[in-house]
Amino acid sequence: MIRTEPQHHAAKPKGLNIDFLRKRLSVLRIGSPLYYFETVDSTNTVGVRLAEQGAAEGTLILAESQTAGRGRFHRRWQSPLGTNLYFSFVLRPDIEASKTAAVTFVAGVAAFDALFVYCRDGLQIKWPNDILIHNRKVCGILTELKTAGNGIELVVGVGINVNIKRVDFDVEYRERATSLAEETGNELPREDVLIHFCTQFQRWYGVFLEVGFKPIKRAWLDRTTMVGRLVKIRFRDETQEGLVWGIDDDGALLLVDGEKTIRRITAGEATVINR
Ligand code: BTN
Repeated sequence: MIRTEPQHHAAKPKGLNIDFLRKRLSVLRIGSPLYYFETVDSTNTVGVRLAEQGAAEGTLILAESQTAGRGRFHRRWQSPLGTNLYFSFVLRPDIEASKTAAVTFVAGVAAFDALFVYCRDGLQIKWPNDILIHNRKVCGILTELKTAGNGIELVVGVGINVNIKRVDFDVEYRERATSLAEETGNELPREDVLIHFCTQFQRWYGVFLEVGFKPIKRAWLDRTTMVGRLVKIRFRDETQEGLVWGIDDDGALLLVDGEKTIRRITAGEATVINR
């Protein structure tokens, strides 16, 4: 007699409903064509490659997991299978290369508004474009720029922690990161979160292309709690401290130092000192 042992497989997470997404995104400015991968090194890497090959504005790359998901300053972006959103999209705006930082702010405001649907309490943007809930990061944005002969190519990468549980974050992130599920107590359909993001991005990108950065800057300032706070900005080996005055028309952070001089900060990691 052949005896079979009971098999205990870890349940494979349910994948995204791509047919549904293709249909819903087909009417939006970003989302078509849609490239979908179960596993990829980084959706940004794929996006940059596709952009080099001439991919059109709106091309979206979406993955269930990433083996080399990356964040700003070459940090790793934890990208486990089937629980969060990892996506990148190609843009070809008709703007000067010096104005492209603005598009990252467009994405930040759009991400904030998409998440606001699920979680209002404690939601804020931290300069330049981290979305936090109760001071823990729920979403990060990484924009990569190429100036090609025929204009600007931008790849905007977005990672949103949707359903990951606190215990599943790597120890190094556990105290600083959160997910929508942890904050709301509910598992959320990732498709809906993505559709909300793409809809909000369409809205704010349209405003940016038609009117310019001013309304984006206003919206960004309305969604941050940093203004008037004492912050520390770390960039490479340097740390600067000061009170946040605002952002300028290129998205640089304006800090007032001890001598009451306004300093312009273009890159770095911000930490609010007085909460
Ligand atoms: C950051 O906050 O440092 C930016 C994180 C950006 C992560 C996303 S996940 C999808 C896309 N692919 C990547 O490799 N990175 C971005």
